[in-house]
Amino acid sequence: MLARTITHALVGLDARRVDVEAHLQNAVPAFAIVGLADRACQEAKERVRSGITSAALDWPVRRITVNLAPAELRKEGSGFDLPIALAILAASRQVPPERLARHAAVGELGLDGRLRPVGGVLAAAEGARRGGLEKLLCSAECAAEAELAGIEAVPVRHLAEAVAYLRGERDPPPVDAPSNGDRPEVVCPDLADVRGQERARRALELAAAGSHNLLLAGPPGIGKTMLARRLPGILPRLPPDEALEVTRIHSVAGMLAPGRPLVTIPPFRAPHHTASVAAIVGGGPGPKPGEASLAHHGVLFLDELAEFARNALEALRQPLEDGAISIARVGGRIVFPARFQLVATMNLCPCGARGDPAAECSCSAARLAAYRDKLSRALLDRFDLLVTVPRPRARDLERAAGETSDAVRGRVEAAHARARAGPLHRSKEASELLSRAVERLPLSGRGRARVARVARTAALLAGADEVGAEHVAEALSFRSPTELGLR
Ligand SMILES: Nc1ncnc2c1ncn2[C@@H]1O[C@H](COP(=O)(O)OP(=O)(O)O)[C@@H](O)[C@H]1O
Ligand SMILES: [Mg+2]
Ligand SMILES: [Zn+2]
Repeated sequence: MLARTITHALVGLDARRVDVEAHLQNAVPAFAIVGLADRACQEAKERVRSGITSAALDWPVRRITVNLAPAELRKEGSGFDLPIALAILAASRQVPPERLARHAAVGELGLDGRLRPVGGVLAAAEGARRGGLEKLLCSAECAAEAELAGIEAVPVRHLAEAVAYLRGERDPPPVDAPSNGDRPEVVCPDLADVRGQERARRALELAAAGSHNLLLAGPPGIGKTMLARRLPGILPRLPPDEALEVTRIHSVAGMLAPGRPLVTIPPFRAPHHTASVAAIVGGGPGPKPGEASLAHHGVLFLDELAEFARNALEALRQPLEDGAISIARVGGRIVFPARFQLVATMNLCPCGARGDPAAECSCSAARLAAYRDKLSRALLDRFDLLVTVPRPRARDLERAAGETSDAVRGRVEAAHARARAGPLHRSKEASELLSRAVERLPLSGRGRARVARVARTAALLAGADEVGAEHVAEALSFRSPTELGLR
């Protein structure tokens, strides 16, 4: 007796259809699974057997062969448990095979038969919808996520529930309404906490309004980290198509917060400087997206940039250029989107005293040279806004609190809306100023384009009807590498 369940395997962010076929023979009882790649799938045998008996169903005393096709597709993860169990139950006529064939299924079984959530359910649901399937059986925790794909989810808490539903003995329980609502998903500290630092605040606002890469440099203890961590609070929410893209990535990485199927605010990822290259750009078995992809349509924050390993920084050049990361693996390449905004902080020298009127730098010339060398020209060139943050004077710190994040976000959202309304022309004076700067600084082609983009953002924030010379001048003021004292 033969029966089949349809499920999906992840290739990067993409779900490929996998047919799980269970074959029962009258022979010496045995249980074999073929077509599985990793150990997690072999462990599936234990969970499936135990899950079926815990659900008070019959474990067929036959020779059971489960085949996952196509064989050449690498299959990772624990989401095959439920489809394997259902195929065996259909082959032994404990659930109706014709009804099962119209469904896709995904989920991990506990030894007690309970269903556990797995990553990548949104992608699997999208695969099921593309394949013309009616419904997806998945764990109750994942049902709202599955329905983002525009397919009907059948939430299942226990294998016995799935069986009762397929036999037509009961309706599936309703899908839990997502609790996303309008509550912010993370509580972001407020910009009002930051005293002084007007120029850095302005750079942060420009960065938010135009998704520009920002580098804050200066002595320690002056609010660089504080400012960078307040960026999410002034960013607008994600538009629906971007929200779905970000959700797909976070789902595959198993990073969705429970009860919040849709990621609606731009992600803010802050990997530690000891993070490995694979952790930052992705990889490993699977492979899984890294921090750069988790930051897609959001912010990648590298605090203390110079502390990161050189190979980690070099690995970021590809996504900064292409907005994507391509990972080589057996049988081809996997591409993860990684269009993030890079925000970084650094000291001006290893001891940190440089640029601080109250301290004296103790760094040797060789140490200073090595420090500057690490932040290759190529990497520094990727920042649109370079800001040297000074140590605030005592009277700046006594000043009243700065503007709130809500007030700044209002302007940022207005700038985003204007950007969508149409192109903005550059005045003749603005173009002349830009051309002169290209020769005088000099600016590379990439540098010129970055200045032009920041100038446009300044004009959008000002609500101007064209990009004027004053906007180009402001953009240029944030571009000079001599500002960092690095050249
Ligand atoms: N401009 C500032 N306004 C208010 N508090 C500040 C400011 N700069 C520094 N601080 C205080 O000093 C602490 C350290 O600041 P931090 O942002 O970590 O400095 P940095 O990253 O520049 O080394 C902050 O948590 C805050 O309490
Ligand atoms: Mg800091
Ligand atoms: Zn120093």
